[in-house]
Amino acid sequence: MSNRYAIVLAAGKGTRMKSKLYKVLHPVLGKPMVQHVVDQLQPLGLEEIITVVGFGAEQVQEQLGDTVRFVVQEEQLGTGHAVQQAETHLNGKQGTTIVVCGDTPLLTKETLQAVLEHHEQEEAAVTILTAQANDPTGYGRIVRDNQGQVSKIVEQKDATAEELAVQEINTGTYCFDNVLLFDALKQVSNDNAQGEYYLPDVIEIAQQQAQKVSAFQTARFSETIGVNDRVALSQAESLMKQRINEYHMRNGVTIIDPAHTYIGADVVIAPDVVIEPGTVLKGSTVIESNAVIGPHSEINNCHIGEGTVVRHSVANASHIGKRVQIGPFAHIRPEANIGDGVKIGNFVEIKKAKVDNNSKVSHLSYIGDAEIGSDVNVGCGTITVNYDGKNKFQTIIEDEAFIGCNANLIAPVRIGKGALVAAGSTIHEDVPSDALSIGRAKQVNKEDYAKKYK
Ligand code: UD1
Ligand code: CA
Repeated sequence: MSNRYAIVLAAGKGTRMKSKLYKVLHPVLGKPMVQHVVDQLQPLGLEEIITVVGFGAEQVQEQLGDTVRFVVQEEQLGTGHAVQQAETHLNGKQGTTIVVCGDTPLLTKETLQAVLEHHEQEEAAVTILTAQANDPTGYGRIVRDNQGQVSKIVEQKDATAEELAVQEINTGTYCFDNVLLFDALKQVSNDNAQGEYYLPDVIEIAQQQAQKVSAFQTARFSETIGVNDRVALSQAESLMKQRINEYHMRNGVTIIDPAHTYIGADVVIAPDVVIEPGTVLKGSTVIESNAVIGPHSEINNCHIGEGTVVRHSVANASHIGKRVQIGPFAHIRPEANIGDGVKIGNFVEIKKAKVDNNSKVSHLSYIGDAEIGSDVNVGCGTITVNYDGKNKFQTIIEDEAFIGCNANLIAPVRIGKGALVAAGSTIHEDVPSDALSIGRAKQVNKEDYAKKYK
């Protein structure tokens, strides 16, 4: 294996998306397209990944962070011009440079690896990744001579009627001999329908110099689609969804309705998890075995323990233990830490709060900025009053406490171990362990008053 380098093209505006968000940042199953591309390149043992940025440079750089090196293309003069911007880093280096577009999010590392290996084995100067498309509209067409050798690539807008009929397309992924690439780019002109410097013109130039031009055709066109507009974006979403769902099902996850289940590329799910319809799993969520998620739940960046059930609920950036019951209609907001065997029932919101093992918050409560011990029962309608309009304060409820229905716990406040808070209380002072606290207006009954009043 020779030295390998990669260039990712991500400087275009993406006019056809009709969006303020730059094209390569549009997410497919929650992850920006260009991130999908970089994530697939990452495992290929590359010396360097250089990303060409232009429109939205700052946002793309922020997205990819320091996993790649950036070069800026000040003006978007075409894909050939974009690649030229990487010359400062790659000039004169011996080896193979793989070029990938930032708008082909479905490409897999397996296919990229295969095209690199083909290129190296063939000792080619250029290898194009091609595919057979039922509808090739919009793609560059692969023109072959009568020996079947690739002679050039012609863009849709420059193609003759005969060339338009060709169904073999340029996927926009290529391997080049690095030195030849930058030499040939100097000869590319912008004399074409779009007035751009086309990277694919390098193929014809290499061919004319009697360099070896090879094509590697993948049987999986669906992996190579380029996303130029929202129609293609929805196709990419659908194909990615299907691929990810199939991966999990083959891994032992039951997905009741794959057409209505959306799982992000980085989600980890153990075997014997059941995903009910209408579920969306995002970010770096991890779900342990025997959990049941859904129907209709949205989970982002959470860790969900073994045997936990989450029905009709939303959970974000939280840790949820084993055998927990959540929902229906619960909202777990960031930094919740929910222990084993806990029950979080309907219309309960938990935020930045710890709820320790076997505690129950079963109905209609708000628990924010709180620490709840184990075996605590929080009655229906209990509120931690955590905010005075300026600052947030902490509520602590120690183990085995029992909070009656409709209590207001005005923070900062501590309810001691085993204490009892009477229903309807407004508690603003600490309650000692094992005490009963009643904080409500005394009830007065006036005999026969109602009869007179009416
Ligand atoms: C390109 C190919 C076409 C191929 C298709 C595959 C060219 C001229 N055409 O067409 O043969 O079938 O991809 O999807 O290369 N970009 C820059 N700077 C620029 C222009 C583009 O960085 O000046 C980036 C874009 O952000 C994008 C990628 O290059 O990620 C491809 O550009 P795009 O305009 O989408 O090319 P296509 O018309 O799809
Ligand atoms: Ca494209």
